[in-house]
Amino acid sequence: MTPTAKRSSHRTIIKATPTVRRPSCTGSLRQVGIVGLGACLPQRVVTNAELERMVKTSDAWIRSRTGIRERRLIEPGQATSDLAAPAALEAIKAAGLRPDEIELIVTGTTTPDTLCPSASCVIQDKVGAKRAGCFDVNAACAGFVYALSAAQGLVASGQYQNALVIGADVLSTIIDWTDRSTCVLFGDGAGAAVIAPVGRGGILASYLGTDGSGACHLQVPAGGSRIPASKHSVEQKQHFLKMNGSEVFKFAVRVMGEAAIVVLDRAGLKPEDVDLFIPHQANIRIIQAAMERLHLPIEKVYLNVEKYGNMSAASTIVALYEAAKAGRIKRGDIVVLVAFGAGLVWGATVIEW
Ligand code: COA
Repeated sequence: MTPTAKRSSHRTIIKATPTVRRPSCTGSLRQVGIVGLGACLPQRVVTNAELERMVKTSDAWIRSRTGIRERRLIEPGQATSDLAAPAALEAIKAAGLRPDEIELIVTGTTTPDTLCPSASCVIQDKVGAKRAGCFDVNAACAGFVYALSAAQGLVASGQYQNALVIGADVLSTIIDWTDRSTCVLFGDGAGAAVIAPVGRGGILASYLGTDGSGACHLQVPAGGSRIPASKHSVEQKQHFLKMNGSEVFKFAVRVMGEAAIVVLDRAGLKPEDVDLFIPHQANIRIIQAAMERLHLPIEKVYLNVEKYGNMSAASTIVALYEAAKAGRIKRGDIVVLVAFGAGLVWGATVIEW
């Protein structure tokens, strides 16, 4: 189905999401927190002026509609693991661990180096995490939040002592660089976090949601089992990301605020308790609209969309990494991550730092 296909019923589904109080993630389980962070961005900076030379667009249009000034793109021949592995090594070092002490690797990505095996397997080999079990999570731009939630549950239950959680994407490899409605929005990047049991705080609550009826609004139609790669699929450019921008925009504004409220409720907190809000960095207008709904001042929001565009699964974790490095997060602070993406999916996490 193309992005212009019939509208989905996701509005009602999101409204029906239960908002009842759940036991926090800690419950009878072990408290789990982030003990190391890392990030890796491509060297190559591509400005809006460069895109003006590629498609019919303008710096003024891109900045006013999205807030993006430039993005980082990989070089031809590079792949997701080339960014993810350095980010992972930095996070492992920051956690005070050796790679062979990592027990689990979970990568949120939509652009693994190969369809099979997973990016996590490739990253494991690159970083030397020989003892780790590995799998990927395909939750598009919410990939890091989903991966974090999955890994947190496995560490909290005691099945693993630690996990390396990665958000990494190189959407430049699935973008149609002649399609101005998508190519101006995205950039490449990778971030990583090591999680482990902590004495206090850590991940207080998570919330994941999906409305598969909205899949048609943001998808790569070919290359999977429905439309396997063929000469025809390539000629039709079906291996590129197709997007119904206005539908995704409306969905994103609504779900960002709702997901934040649900996850804060699960943690027994309110929007005014949040010290730093780290939203998926897709579009400054989506973030501003969501902040208005939450009555959160923009000073409490970490923003880097201007520098990197939408880095898909890497967005929230790179923003968290930068915020921590910049001293924007103090011990005891309440940090909320919220992301949304193709699926349609959304996810949120509350962390006491
Ligand atoms: N440069 C110049 N003009 C462009 C353009 C570009 N890069 N991309 C689209 N346009 C044109 C459109 O063709 C349209 O022209 P028309 O009126 O002649 O048909 C016009 O600009 C307005 O398009 P519109 O869709 O109304 O703009 P918008 O204000 O809604 O912004 C998006 C478009 C894509 C920026 C916005 O819809 C968006 O951010 N959506 C969410 C996308 C997203 O976050 N995706 C990833 C989710 S994880």
